[in-house]
Amino acid sequence: MKTKLIGLIFLLIFTKNFGQKFENLAQTPPMGWNSWNKFACNVNEQVIKDAADYMVSSGMKDAGYNYVVIDDCWHGERDSLGFITADKERFPSGMKALIDYVHSKGLKFGIYSDAGWQTCGGRPGSRGREFQDAQTYAKWGVDYLKYDWCETEGLKAEGAYMTMRNALREAGRPIVLSICEWGDNQPWEWGEDVGHLWRTTGDIYNCFDCEENHGTWSSFGVLQILDMQDGLREYAGPGHWNDPDMMEVGNGMSVNEDRAHFTMWCMIAAPLIAGNDLANMSQETIDILTNKEMIAINQDPLGIQGFKYKTIGEVEVWFKPLQNKEWAVTFLNRGNEEQKITFDWKNEKVMDELNNLAANFNETTYKLRDVWKHKSVGNTKNRIKLTIPAHNVVTYRLLK
Ligand code: GLA
Repeated sequence: MKTKLIGLIFLLIFTKNFGQKFENLAQTPPMGWNSWNKFACNVNEQVIKDAADYMVSSGMKDAGYNYVVIDDCWHGERDSLGFITADKERFPSGMKALIDYVHSKGLKFGIYSDAGWQTCGGRPGSRGREFQDAQTYAKWGVDYLKYDWCETEGLKAEGAYMTMRNALREAGRPIVLSICEWGDNQPWEWGEDVGHLWRTTGDIYNCFDCEENHGTWSSFGVLQILDMQDGLREYAGPGHWNDPDMMEVGNGMSVNEDRAHFTMWCMIAAPLIAGNDLANMSQETIDILTNKEMIAINQDPLGIQGFKYKTIGEVEVWFKPLQNKEWAVTFLNRGNEEQKITFDWKNEKVMDELNNLAANFNETTYKLRDVWKHKSVGNTKNRIKLTIPAHNVVTYRLLK
């Protein structure tokens, strides 16, 4: 009787949170850096240490970035008991020492695995080893897991991601779970209970308005990815975000294009995961990535994904509701020519029906704060005339 009771109590404690993701993580879109877009499989200890060092010295940490995430190809073999190890040549000090280093900078560490037999880069995947890998990550001090979807024939996405969710929960260390199955299985419909963010598309690449066809799959430019977010805003909110992929800011687009890319990711409450070489950034790249006024729009506590309000020729007008009844508005010039437009606030009826929020410019006059020029530029009483260079943006915060 007594043993049964003890057994029951143990079972209750043990299973209390089993089958639930860690709550209270990613209450605003995660911010950080990931190795893939710039370094692909060429990762090693130094690359990750540099990212951590420069995340601090560039001012990115002060601006809110905190996750240093190593993507594919860090893996070595599994040991004789099946535990995963880091590639010994590239990580001679071992993964635990590297993670301790990142933590010593006041940053968090993210790692990468795959729900299938192998990762997309051909390294060992977590299939059949989910609980073992979660234990290893927890022991090493991992704070974030990006979990990919290569080599998964025969698996169902929701179930496979639930297995890793449960494994992380059992391992006991709060770890953000980043679902990466490219939007193939409508993760927005089931992701909220399973992870903290989910990719909505295939991979991004450093081009503003392009698609590169690889046969069975494509890589997409910034505008193509932006367009694919249509219809998904209702699924995002604190703790569960649509992820339009890591950023390409600083990876070769023009400064205007980088600014537009960063701005739109802020407007749609996307995770802000830089993907460039932090050790070799231009001042323009730093200024874009650390624009605190823009980041405040992305990190607004309401966590509402912005929406396209209207299109005026090549210019799209996007609105995002913010706390204290404020708004952000962005004019995005998608075209290859400079655009001149006039916007008469009093003729506009901005309504976020999903959240029942309205900006009524006849009832309320908002002050305009130019988020890229960092200055106040009048209010919404008068119409504004804008000149927007090609592939660039004008963004205002509407202050009450
Ligand atoms: C997939 C993911 C990318 C990256 C690579 C690594 O393509 O979508 O973001 O993680 O795998 O191989």
